[in-house]
Amino acid sequence: METQTLEQLYASHFNAKPQFIVRAPGRVNLIGEHTDYNDGFVLPMAIDRAVWIALSPRADSQIRIHSLDLEVDSAFDLDSLTKGEGWAEYPKAIANQLLKRGYKLIGFDAVMTGDVPRGAGLSSSAAVELAIARAFAVISGFAWDAPKMARIAQKAENEWVGVNVGIMDQMASAACKKGNALFLDCRSLEIQHAPLPKGVSVVILDTSTRRGLVDSAYNERRNQCEEAARWFGVKALRDVSVDEFEGKIKREKLDEIVLKRARHIVTENARVLEAVQVMKAGNVKRLGELFNASHNSLRDDFEVTNEALNQIVECAQEQSSCYGARMTGAGFGGCAVALVKEENTQEFTNTVSAAYRQRSGLDASIYVCQASEGASVIQG
Ligand code: GLA
Repeated sequence: METQTLEQLYASHFNAKPQFIVRAPGRVNLIGEHTDYNDGFVLPMAIDRAVWIALSPRADSQIRIHSLDLEVDSAFDLDSLTKGEGWAEYPKAIANQLLKRGYKLIGFDAVMTGDVPRGAGLSSSAAVELAIARAFAVISGFAWDAPKMARIAQKAENEWVGVNVGIMDQMASAACKKGNALFLDCRSLEIQHAPLPKGVSVVILDTSTRRGLVDSAYNERRNQCEEAARWFGVKALRDVSVDEFEGKIKREKLDEIVLKRARHIVTENARVLEAVQVMKAGNVKRLGELFNASHNSLRDDFEVTNEALNQIVECAQEQSSCYGARMTGAGFGGCAVALVKEENTQEFTNTVSAAYRQRSGLDASIYVCQASEGASVIQG
C-alpha cells in the first residue's frame, strides 16, 4: 500500500492529513506448528501482506476507525469500553489490555486497510492487533517493546475475543526483521533472527478452504496437550525430549489420542531445532525434508489438516523444484507453505495450480512471499 494513497483516503474521510501511518504484517509459519502453547519452539516469518492504519490524535478519549475494506465506521470511548461484536472488538481488546496495565492512552481518528486474507492461517487478526497497538504507542507516546506488546495482544485475544491462542502470531507480527525468519522460544520469548536461505522462494499455497478458530478443535487440542504434560509430570510438553517420550510410552499406558497429540508436539519441537541448524548451514534439502515430516505429523498425529491441505501439499511435493511443503497455521483449512527453487517458481506455481484444480475441483491462490519487517511506524 502506497502511503500517498492511504493519506488521500484518510483525507477524504476526515478532511485532514494523517499525522502517522503504521503497519503490521501477517505471518507464515515455516515450521513449529501448535508448539507455541506447549512452551515450545516456532519459526515464523512476517509476510509482505499487512494491515495499515493512518491516524491523527484527538483531544478527547474517542477512538474512531473507518475500515476501508469493510466500508464501516466504528467508534468507542476509552473511558467506557463495552463488549460488542465485529472487527472493532480487536481495537477495543487492545485498548482494554493497555489501560489495565496503566498505559495512558489518547483518542484518535483513523482509517485502516489490509491485504492479509482472513481465516487463511496467515494471522490477519494478529496483524490488526499489532497495528492497533503500534498506533496507540505512537500516538500516546510510549516506547515500542515488541515482546511486551505481543503478550498484550495475545491476552487481548484470549480474554476479550475468547480464543485461547499461543504467542507465535503476535510475536511474529511485532518482532520480525526484513529478510529473516524469527526463531522463537515460546517459554522465555527469547528470539533469534534467522536469515532465509539464498536461491529459495517461500511460496504460500492458499487452498481457498476456510475454518474459523473459535468453533474449531483448537482449544480441544490445547487441552489434550495439557493432559499429556500432566501425564509426563512436566509443566509443558516442551520439557519432554523424543527419547524421554519413547521411553515412557513403552513402559506405561497413555490414551491413544493423547499419545498422538503429544508425539506431534515432541517431534515437532525437535524438527524446529534442527531446522534452525540446517538453515544456518544452508542445507535447504534437509529443511525441505523437515517440512514434509512436519506435515505428515500434523496430518496423522495432530489431525489438523483437511483434505484440501493434504491435496495441495501433495501437489507441491510432487514437483522436483520443491524442497518440501506443509500446512501452516492452525490448520483445518487455509494455507500451506512450500520451499521452491527460486528459478523454477513460476513453473511450480502454474503446475501446482492446475494439478490442485484437477484433484480437488478448487482454485488455489499461490504467491511467493518476502520476509518483511514487524510492526512499524512508516510515516510521521
Ligand atoms: C494459530 C494460533 C497460534 C498457533 C498456531 C498453530 O495461528 O494463533 O498461536 O498456535 O495456530 O501453530
